[in-house]
Amino acid sequence: MKNVILGVSGGIAAYKAADLASRLVKRAIGVDVIMTEAAIRFVGTATFRALTGRPVRVDVFDEEGEITHVELAQRADLFLVAPATANTIAKLAHGLADNLLTTVALAVDCPRLVAPAMNSRMYADPAVQANIATLRDRGYQILGPAAGRLACGEEGPGRMLEAAEIEDLVMNLLEASDGLKGVEVLVTAGPTREHLDPVRFLSNASSGKMGYALAREAARRGASVTLISGPTHLRPPYGVSFQRVTTTEEMFHAVMKRFSASRVVIKAAAPADFRCGETRREKIKKQGKELSLTLVPNPDILLELGRRKRPGQILVGFAAETGGVEEKARKKLRRKQLDMIVANDVSGPENPFGADTNTVTIITSDGRVESLPSMSKDEVARHIIDRVEGLLRSR
Ligand code: CTP
Repeated sequence: MKNVILGVSGGIAAYKAADLASRLVKRAIGVDVIMTEAAIRFVGTATFRALTGRPVRVDVFDEEGEITHVELAQRADLFLVAPATANTIAKLAHGLADNLLTTVALAVDCPRLVAPAMNSRMYADPAVQANIATLRDRGYQILGPAAGRLACGEEGPGRMLEAAEIEDLVMNLLEASDGLKGVEVLVTAGPTREHLDPVRFLSNASSGKMGYALAREAARRGASVTLISGPTHLRPPYGVSFQRVTTTEEMFHAVMKRFSASRVVIKAAAPADFRCGETRREKIKKQGKELSLTLVPNPDILLELGRRKRPGQILVGFAAETGGVEEKARKKLRRKQLDMIVANDVSGPENPFGADTNTVTIITSDGRVESLPSMSKDEVARHIIDRVEGLLRSR
């Protein structure tokens, strides 16, 4: 059974949350309701308890029911705050944990969604907008709000989405499958660093977001996932075996070690193609004149994997190109003996390096080409993993 944490904060739209809870329960979803003190002034806990058949929680210190709030957070497949007031949004944006809802928000490792509901002038306030932008940056999905007549009599944006709309969104997210159950998937992510001296290095702008999203999505479908990552600021996905590396050579060795045990390898990393011929032990001092660096080529990990690939193994590469993307990606697919390549144009206005969205073209070795519109990296990951599942089924 999938479990959703439904956080209800104090707004008149709390009554819609009761409808939503009821709809999710009818879809065989387990709903754990957490309410704020203000929310229980609008709708009583008894309503949610009756609708969900589960204890409703308000207080951090009240561990009513058979599981603790940490276990509650761990078993959640989705964390949703609906309605989310300006106050709760502010707390979430700043990582405050002064009630059970905001505490659990920090402990979950699943998609997090908020459905704002407030007066339209409050919604337009720069502080609220900045907090919402912060949440979005951190991977929260913001649902709505819709525009229309508000409870206060004013017109404008601030209405919580209808329960039926939120139900659809939630079900889309939860429809993840067991399509990769037991499949060993190896993902690489992020940049690598090549040191010149103890404090300086060559690297690139890869954030690792695409690779982490792929690892998370594969794990969500039951795969046994290893993520080998260069330096990033991201939190490793829950349930994924994680290994951090620094240089391309380290990544090369880590990948080769895992390769024979892997059915699928997705190389989303952007390893540095060169390293310094000589890494100085001491910091290089400026001497007021030119400094020449000798760079030597690093191993091309993907090329080597293509050479060593056994029948049945699936190899997915990425290609960041400037112009002539499809043609160049096809060549790379052939040269590196890949089963699939995910190509993007990095010359356009939407540079995917570090961004949350990506516009990609997926090409498979059977010649199929699928150009996707701009979408979040999480969505791109779903498409890529769908195609990987398709390749596994066809073998
Ligand atoms: N890659 C790799 N090892 C490297 C460099 C790249 O495994 N040393 C992988 C990346 O993870 C990616 C793919 O190769 O999946 C494409 O990277 P890209 O830099 O576009 O490929 P190159 O072959 O290095 O590109 P080019 O031919 O343009 O130099």
